[in-house]
Formats: sequence, C-alpha cells, structure tokens
Amino acid sequence: MTDALAAPGTIPSGDRASGAVPQHIAIIMDGNGRWAQARHRPRLIGHRAGARAVKRCVEFCLQRGIGALTLFAFSSENWDRPSDEVSGLMRLFIGALDREVDELARLGVRLRFIGERERFPTGIRERMHSTEIRTAGNARLHLNIAASYGGQQDIARAARELASEVAAGRLQPEQIDATALSSRMALADLPPPDLFIRTGGELRISNFLLWQLAYTELWFTEVLWPDVDAVLLQSALDAYAARERRFGLTSEQIQAKDGAKAP
Ligand code: FPP
Repeated sequence: MTDALAAPGTIPSGDRASGAVPQHIAIIMDGNGRWAQARHRPRLIGHRAGARAVKRCVEFCLQRGIGALTLFAFSSENWDRPSDEVSGLMRLFIGALDREVDELARLGVRLRFIGERERFPTGIRERMHSTEIRTAGNARLHLNIAASYGGQQDIARAARELASEVAAGRLQPEQIDATALSSRMALADLPPPDLFIRTGGELRISNFLLWQLAYTELWFTEVLWPDVDAVLLQSALDAYAARERRFGLTSEQIQAKDGAKAP
C-alpha cells in the first residue's frame, strides 16, 4: 500500500481477501443507454441518471473507508459515438464538475483524470486541471475518472516513455521490466484495483486498465449502471470478501502466510 492511501482505519491493499474490504475499486459503468431506452427516453437521460449513480457510489466508498475509486467515464473509442451523444456527455461532465467539486473537496476527495486529455476541448481540460489542483491535498478517497482512456493506449504511452529514456541514454533496454513499465502507467502511485465491477451484463474488460487489472478480482452484474445503489455495491464487496486471492501462489502457501501473520 502506498503512503497516499495509508489513511487511518483502512485495510492495506493487496490483501488476500476472505473478509477484507477492497481498498481500490475500478468500475465500468455500463447500461446507461439501455436504461434510457427501456423508458423510451433519449440516451442522454440515461447518462444523467448515471451521473446520479456516480454520486451514490462515491458516498458508498466514503462510508466504507474505501481509499480509491476509478470510474470508466469515457473510452478512447467513445469519441466515435453519435456527435450529439458525445457533446451531451461533455456538457454532463462539465456540469457535474462545476456542481460537485466544492462538496467533493470538502469531503476529502482527491480527483484525478486519466486518459488522453489533449483530445478534450480547452474548457474541459482547464476544468480538469483546476479540479486536480484544488483537491490535490486530499487523501480520504482518490476518485480517478478515466476519460478518453484506453488500456492499450496507456501501455503504449508507458512503452514510448521508456523508449525515449533508452534513446536519451538514461535507461538500458535490459532495465525494462514489469516494475519499470508499472511506474509509467496511469495511477502508478496507487495500489492496483482489488475489485473490478462491470454493470450492464457484458462480460468483458473493454480496454479498461488492462495492465493494472492483472490480479484484480472481477465481478459482473446484469444491473444497469443508473440502478446501482448501496445494496448492490455491498453485494460486490461481500463477493470480494469471500474470494481467496492467490497472486500465483497455491492455496496452501496463502494459508501458511496468513497463519504466520495471525497474532
Ligand atoms: C456506458 O453506458 C456509459 C458511458 C459511455 C458513459 C458513462 C457516463 C456516466 C456514468 C455519466 C457521468 C459520469 C461522470 C464521471 C460524471 P452505455 O451508454 O454504453 O450504455 P448501453 O450499453 O446501455 O448502451
């Protein structure tokens, strides 16, 4: 666990679950469109309801002492959606930022954005930047918004940075290993997600944190994102608590380690 997450009362990340609370949750918030469609409403109404679910989710994490929450708000590929949906989502992001940032700052939330920021209009980039500066001193909950984010793009960017260092003579190719790459990935200063949640019934990762999810526990639900509430989130936590995380070891090795750690 990094110092950034070492808040009092939190459980170290990288735990082996069984009874534990995840310290970092990553979520694909899927199903806004279908939620709206089921009500014969435009897709943007679903995204608006999705924004309200984001608020409930943040409140849930704050109540449970979860140290980090990473939300997939907009993928690198989402730019290709119909232009009115993209522009509506942009307006929604700006509105949510303007409305919520004071309260989030007051609650001790640190907001960060990961992804290809240069693709956003200047106004949004400026708001992202000022929000990050404004909340930089907070550590109760790290709220990371993946916007214009792609896991493959994240890995390619990290590889490009390492290649530049090799070209500049600051790094030897043989020094490139998983640790070196990890240190250049988005969210490198946070422990990787313990728990991944995807709503909306699809069983895939969809180019979300590909590198960071290597040992993350995956949990899927048919529930559409706008319908998410504390009860559903608690079911995900309960499922996580019942898992045995082995990180490549055997169950016997894990039990022996846990036994050695017991008081
Ligand atoms: C996926 O559902 C959702 C998105 C592409 C947008 C997510 C945005 C929000 C939850 C709104 C607000 C977010 C923040 C951070 C303020 P979909 O549109 O693919 O749904 P479908 O699969 O039912 O079509």
